[in-house]
Amino acid sequence: MIYLDNAATSFPKPEGVYRAMDAFARNSLANPGRAGHRLAVAAKDTLEDARFRLSRFVGGVGADRVAFALNGTDALNMAMKGTLQPGDHVVTTDLEHNSVSRPLVKLADDGIITLTRVPSDSGGTVDPDAIRAALTAKTRLVAVTHASNVLGTVQPVAEIGKLCREKGILFLVDAAQTIGVLPIDVQAMHIDLLAFPGHKGLFGPTGTGGLYVAPGVPIRAWREGGTGGDSKSPMQPAGFPEFLEGGTPNLLGIVGMIAGLDYVEEKGIEAIHRHEVELCERLRAAVADNPLIVPVGHADPARRVGTFSFRCEVMDSEALAGVLDTSFGICVRAGNHCSPYIHQAVGSYDDGLTRVSPGPFSTIEHIDTLANALTEITGG
Ligand code: ALA
Repeated sequence: MIYLDNAATSFPKPEGVYRAMDAFARNSLANPGRAGHRLAVAAKDTLEDARFRLSRFVGGVGADRVAFALNGTDALNMAMKGTLQPGDHVVTTDLEHNSVSRPLVKLADDGIITLTRVPSDSGGTVDPDAIRAALTAKTRLVAVTHASNVLGTVQPVAEIGKLCREKGILFLVDAAQTIGVLPIDVQAMHIDLLAFPGHKGLFGPTGTGGLYVAPGVPIRAWREGGTGGDSKSPMQPAGFPEFLEGGTPNLLGIVGMIAGLDYVEEKGIEAIHRHEVELCERLRAAVADNPLIVPVGHADPARRVGTFSFRCEVMDSEALAGVLDTSFGICVRAGNHCSPYIHQAVGSYDDGLTRVSPGPFSTIEHIDTLANALTEITGG
């Protein structure tokens, strides 16, 4: 089996992730901070250490700015539903995943916010000047993905962040495709809210993620529940960031995510990014002379993460992914990738695209096998 669907979730995980989770589950998996016994206290220390590691990794100001979430979608919902108020205007882009666009469309449909979706250029990059032009006196939030999960194009988040900071507008970045792959510095990039999954570039298990909240950002809890402190209070206690986290956190998953972060820091994000992009470029070169395989998005590898999406002229994307899986043992993702607006923009809404997303454990042989399979399927 050849797995080339790391944009959906990374697989396999580094060996250290499996080992850390196994050891923690056997020896240490108490409920963090929900009791005063030694195991609960140690579990709380593990959780706090994880917050510190993640804050440091994204250039944050401290452990208490990181709230844990179930996944990137949960973190994005926390950010948007915790900051937006009736009458607010929000600017977003046509590159967004449904994790951003669906909550915003629902808020707009309910008459709570107004929404402007800025189109990206023909290759899949949004222009900061187009964001600037969309701002109004009521704009409270700009929500942008750091890199498209369909085209892999990296967005100019530092420029957009600077613009938002000048205007006093909150800036939310969806780092689903970039955390662990591209440098992120929330302070230098003026990011107020950074939502990230733990199961992609951080190599944790599914069910992990987090939200970095910059100091001074006013945010309400999107869900309430036990936080391990102030049990007598009928209302959600104010302590940050726990008040955003009602319910027992996925500590076992968080331990896996931090073991994944160890791997990323040891290997280096530049090396991981380079490897993934080089494999995509190898595939691009291998299919370059095949007129039945049509790559979509900017060709410049310096502007992308390791994601390569293409149209196949002999069958629709879902059918192609099915053949790759059943006849060649190759796992890729096809269809609209939960990002319908960019598929509309690039003309692939009906048939979708086939997306190949290698990870650090993908090899040249995997890519060559895929390239040969595509040649065979297209009758070469
Ligand atoms: N957001 C994930 C993807 O792009 C699931 O496949």
